[in-house]
Amino acid sequence: MTTIAQNELLTRTGPGTSMGALFRRYWIPVMMSSEVAGPDCDPVRVKLLSEELICFRDTAGTVALLDRYCPHRRVSLWFGRNEGHGLRCSYHGWKFDAEGQCVDIPSHEGDDALRKDIRIKSYPCIERGGVVWTYMGPPEHRPPPPEFEWTTVPGSHRYVDRRLGECNYLQALEGGIDSSHVSSLHGGELRKGGTLDSDPGTGSRERLSFLNEKKIHFEVTPSASGLQIGASRRAGDGTNYWRITQWIMPWYTMIPPRTTDSPLHGHAWVPIDDENCFVWNVTYHPSRPLTETELEEMHNGEGIYAELIPGSFRTAANKDNDYLMDREAQREGRYYSGIKGIAMQDASVQESMGPIVDRSLERLTTTDIAIVQTRRRLMEAARRAERGEELPALDPSTYRVRSATLFLPEGVRLADAEATLQEATRTESPYGERSFA
Ligand code: FES
Ligand SMILES: [Fe+2]
Repeated sequence: MTTIAQNELLTRTGPGTSMGALFRRYWIPVMMSSEVAGPDCDPVRVKLLSEELICFRDTAGTVALLDRYCPHRRVSLWFGRNEGHGLRCSYHGWKFDAEGQCVDIPSHEGDDALRKDIRIKSYPCIERGGVVWTYMGPPEHRPPPPEFEWTTVPGSHRYVDRRLGECNYLQALEGGIDSSHVSSLHGGELRKGGTLDSDPGTGSRERLSFLNEKKIHFEVTPSASGLQIGASRRAGDGTNYWRITQWIMPWYTMIPPRTTDSPLHGHAWVPIDDENCFVWNVTYHPSRPLTETELEEMHNGEGIYAELIPGSFRTAANKDNDYLMDREAQREGRYYSGIKGIAMQDASVQESMGPIVDRSLERLTTTDIAIVQTRRRLMEAARRAERGEELPALDPSTYRVRSATLFLPEGVRLADAEATLQEATRTESPYGERSFA
């Protein structure tokens, strides 16, 4: 059972919290590089781990992330002018460079000592995989950037976006490692054979396994970066259908592919504050460009993607309109929960728990074993950070793993198929020609 105190530890990520201190030790995805597209672009408001910040690209092309408020009289720098290698506050013209150093106080007479003394909070940024990443922890602990496979493939092989999740990051993340809900919550999508398996003639074996067998056996093992979560269902042909999900510290999940040549999917569940998170959606193929059909589906908000309200990251179906619940579709079984689309099915159940779910009231079962272990590892890592001990998943090579789908003969445990599993989940293995049946 998770106690109220443990729930507090797990869900509070602002400055001064234990989990917040842990999360600040890892690189954090901030926004798409295209949101700060060119030099001297419009500044963009950012909130991460309950800190209000401003992001801009300066004249030299450097992406900067600064405290959002001018230290003079606390005006938002979003109203500022991005010009001449810095962001200038629009109230009295104080100007700050990409490192937060004040470089100009137009109204101040006398020597330069005051200006030199003024420096605002700034976090280093890098760009990888079309995404701006920042590091908000102590400079002496800054790790090398994570080596996710999707950040290393050509842009044509990848599609990334993000949407607002209106709940604490952890209950959203826990949806990403909970393989047992797929057959029920997403059952309607599987039955129509659309979103999870849009290629006729392929993937049907996987789909049938989902539909015919709701009973699941889990094998969860620690990995160098987090957890490797194996969930198996009887396929009905003498084999078991295994879905291998990766949880990577601190908030990344990788979804098993539909078939051996399908693109791979993943998420990052990043706290904006304690009651909201950014749900990052990643799709990539290790060895080929995404097809026009695949891209169109994602643009249209299908699969793990959702339609957004233009000009925002909020989804068109959201808690204020009950996610466009359709009771008729629920009765008919077109959508198990009456909500359309995998992303919104997930969001509706996660957000329905309230902004921060009270985990002390839960009744967990054996199918929640991955969730229990994830919480345990997060709490353990937070304690390690407090004690100044070494943390997991700071070595960038530990991110070089894939999710996978396997068929293994009935009776074979995942632990017994170590070589097959390693081949399927290492990023150097050939992709698209595998067969493990
Ligand atoms: S408040 Fe920003 S310069 Fe005065
Ligand atoms: Fe889901």
